[in-house]
Amino acid sequence: MNLLKLSKINKSFDKNQVLKDVSISLNKGEVISIIGPSGSGKSTLLRCITGLEQMDSGLIEFNDITIAAATKKIVNTEAVNAHKKIGMVFQNFNLFPHKTVLENIIEAPIIVNNINKKDAINIARKLLTKVELLDKIDSYPCTLSGGQKQRIAIARALAMNPELILFDEPTSALDPKLTGEVLKVIRNLALEKISLVVVTHEMQFAREISDRIIFMENGEILETSTPELLFTNPKHPRIKQFLAYTPHNIL
Ligand SMILES: Nc1ncnc2c1ncn2[C@@H]1O[C@H](COP(=O)(O)OP(=O)(O)OP(=O)(O)O)[C@@H](O)[C@H]1O
Ligand SMILES: [Mg+2]
Repeated sequence: MNLLKLSKINKSFDKNQVLKDVSISLNKGEVISIIGPSGSGKSTLLRCITGLEQMDSGLIEFNDITIAAATKKIVNTEAVNAHKKIGMVFQNFNLFPHKTVLENIIEAPIIVNNINKKDAINIARKLLTKVELLDKIDSYPCTLSGGQKQRIAIARALAMNPELILFDEPTSALDPKLTGEVLKVIRNLALEKISLVVVTHEMQFAREISDRIIFMENGEILETSTPELLFTNPKHPRIKQFLAYTPHNIL
């Protein structure tokens, strides 16, 4: 059974069609990276999965439950519960600036999952230990580095006990040193067999952690392949060209 199944997703902004018949299936425990040039529709695709964007046609299923369909919002309990199992980590962290690290992490578990505060704090402490930031538990986001903020954002996503985490260029706002510490945390999630969809420009990282890599351009999937094949022998000439001009490429 697929954990996530996208079937023929189409999405336009006015006359600009940014997703064209995009279909993707992801199995439980699988790590997929999505790469491709700027403007190819990667973020829009993730936003359709989380319900932040409404698609024009197509179907999104999670654990065989329809969570998004063309033009109508799915609001039944099953779909709402399914959405709670999908975490998202953004390029710009999106932490609540007026809340401490602890408050950022416990808010959704308490409000959305009805977990009591004491348990939520215990979970937060464990997760902060995992991302090596327990000492920042009472800090405010503005006092943290970009890499620390992103690790807090990952801890916050994990606090909802997700079955799938979507990452939208989690390191592109960070300098190389801070990038490494965030990639380490994501790499560990992949090793723990948490299902991940990672939009990234970090080619070496994508190659290392992914079971499959999807290359998107102009709203279309041009190729889905194993990292080995995509990087050593891409079928599509556009991918060869893209990899040759992308920093950190390893061709
Ligand atoms: N809210 C919006 N309104 C109008 N157009 C939009 C909107 N969001 C995205 N677009 C357009 O959709 C296209 C795809 O954008 P998207 O952000 O999904 O690309 P991307 O692959 O994530 O690019 P990047 O690598 O730069 O993040 C672009 O042409 C963009 O201008
Ligand atoms: Mg994007």
